[in-house]
Amino acid sequence: MAILEILKLPDSRLKEIAEEVTSFDDELHRFIDDLEETRLDGPAAVGIAATQVGRLQRIVIIDCSNTRKPVPNHGRLVLVNPEITEWDGFELGREGCLSVPDYTGNVIRAEKIKVKAMDPAGLASEYEMEGFEARALQHEVDHLDGILFVDRLVSRRTDLFQRKVYRKGGAQKT
Ligand code: NI
Repeated sequence: MAILEILKLPDSRLKEIAEEVTSFDDELHRFIDDLEETRLDGPAAVGIAATQVGRLQRIVIIDCSNTRKPVPNHGRLVLVNPEITEWDGFELGREGCLSVPDYTGNVIRAEKIKVKAMDPAGLASEYEMEGFEARALQHEVDHLDGILFVDRLVSRRTDLFQRKVYRKGGAQKT
């Protein structure tokens, strides 16, 4: 396994539209293992998309089972060719992103969604998600369409926040 390099804004590959996965082979499974190891590196992220490591294929991992405040969730999900089929409600919430390390932002997302996706073996499933997990999935599917959370801010002036900078050897990152 290997930790992969995370692309950061303004890398133009983050703006590309990812392609559907068509072969569910060992090479795909090795890549998914690396993507998961990369997600868990440092402070674990709740989600990661293949686009963020420069592989332009429709693969995301989310895991909302370890948030500070418990939220409804399905545990760790590796979703291949995920597709949001229904949206319900709107909610404003704070997001961060491994590809935009210095900022967080307030983004409007659907409160509840239905998602169709395949697992790494190519088997199709459907999920109903709400709240923070629904937000995480919408954020990751956006990556597959070349969209970052900073593209969805209503106002950069009021909805974008610089992360606190800590001195070397100082407190943990948020
Ligand atoms: Ni992100």
